[in-house]
Amino acid sequence: MNQIVDKALRGVALLKVSNIRHWTDRTFSFDCERPQGFRFRSGEFAMIGLIVDGKPLLRAYSIASPSWDDELEFYSIKVEDGPLTSRLQHLKEGDEIVMRPKPVGTLVHDALLPGKRLFLFSTGTGIAPFASVIRDPETYEKFDQVILTQTCRDVKELDYGKHLIESIKTHEFLPEIVGDKLTHIATTTREDSGQMGRMTDWIRDGRLAGAVGGDLNPESDRVMICGSMAMLKDHKEICEERGFVEGSNSEPGHFVIEKAFVD
Ligand code: A2P
Repeated sequence: MNQIVDKALRGVALLKVSNIRHWTDRTFSFDCERPQGFRFRSGEFAMIGLIVDGKPLLRAYSIASPSWDDELEFYSIKVEDGPLTSRLQHLKEGDEIVMRPKPVGTLVHDALLPGKRLFLFSTGTGIAPFASVIRDPETYEKFDQVILTQTCRDVKELDYGKHLIESIKTHEFLPEIVGDKLTHIATTTREDSGQMGRMTDWIRDGRLAGAVGGDLNPESDRVMICGSMAMLKDHKEICEERGFVEGSNSEPGHFVIEKAFVD
């Protein structure tokens, strides 16, 4: 890892990339070095990108790895004409990305009041911050039950999440911490799978309550939401209808939201 001294690039770190995995035509993930002394809270995002024409081209990316990990992991969409992802998707082992090491975000425990169940609602690459949160021991110290949901159009798009859950089960120390507290609900909307439908529909028609033993309730439940603008709006509406109050770092509440990376 090099700290760049060039004036235009001051404040960004160069990080070597490894373990690039193309999950579908539309998504890929990769690991990279973690800058020395770089601290973040699980669920936060940082500005990462590439040097283009001598300048850093950066976008907000959720850090998918947990805060205890030596490496950083990112999960990205590929957008054909996206200024960054059209380039980033061609990363090769040993290439370098740039990162501004100033993590921020609201999908963090500090923005939520204490509760019993933690719901993590995601669509598509919105699962990334929750890949971090569900591998953080603090999550299981704070909650009795953790429910991660991901809705995608097609079955293959669920592979990253399925692999993530499997990797927790076979991890050296996580199984003992996670125990039987983690539930994963993966649904599709456009291709037939065992479980179909948007999670917003599952909540409204009682399927989610049936699957986890009770409807969303601000007394006991806390919610983090990450996905497209439309998805955030609908989930937020559902939370507010039930009396949930939105939280922030300065004023913790019952639910928090964040837009998933888009281009
Ligand atoms: P659908 O196929 O019914 O649109 P996208 O790739 O467009 O971001 O969508 C990812 C997933 O999120 C899809 O399964 C999509 O369902 C679902 N989705 C899109 N909009 C919403 C919404 N407003 N509320 C809940 N889920 C949504």
